[in-house]
Amino acid sequence: LGPARAAEIRSLIRDVPDYPHPPVVFRDITPLLADGPALTDVVDAFAGLVDADGGVDVVAGMEARGFLLGAPLATRLGVGFVPLRKAGKLPPPVVREDYALEYGTASIELRHGTLAPGSRVLLVDDVLATGGTAQAAASLVERCGGHVVALAFLLELAGLGGRDRLAGRTVETLLRVE
Ligand code: PRP
Ligand code: ADE
Repeated sequence: LGPARAAEIRSLIRDVPDYPHPPVVFRDITPLLADGPALTDVVDAFAGLVDADGGVDVVAGMEARGFLLGAPLATRLGVGFVPLRKAGKLPPPVVREDYALEYGTASIELRHGTLAPGSRVLLVDDVLATGGTAQAAASLVERCGGHVVALAFLLELAGLGGRDRLAGRTVETLLRVE
């Protein structure tokens, strides 16, 4: 994304103070998702990062917003998509990671055997905040035999330390706010 287009796309992410509770400023991507050219440009920008990172076998996304960006990206790249689901949604047996995020706690699950051994996985999500979700997702992929090539996010909330938490991993973000 060039600087002008990045600014336009940023303007399609709505900042909602004190949601779901103070002092969180919630970054709502639904206006962006509803804008066809913006959604296309975001998916294309993600695809460009992948080429730079040397190719992937599969895209994995964190429920729910990671599905909305990850599945179109997988189609764009011609690879499969693996959903990392919130607890209780996938039939057993599953591997589970519990984690904390900016405004709560959650668990995500994946089943051994979903990923071919050694698969090169690109993890995709909309927001990198504390990095709790991303760290759990990367651990889950690795416990299930995948290799995390990179983690790609639409928006980095730089003040919350997510990048530090993912130190040692390749982290790509299209937009960043302090
Ligand atoms: C949001 C967002 C990321 C995560 C980032 O998901 O989509 O997955 O929080 O926060 P963190 O970096 O502090 O972990 P949420 O759990 O709210 O679920 P949703 O996608 O179902 O709305
Ligand atoms: N996930 C974690 N923190 C968030 C925020 N401030 N806005 C949207 N999604 C988030």
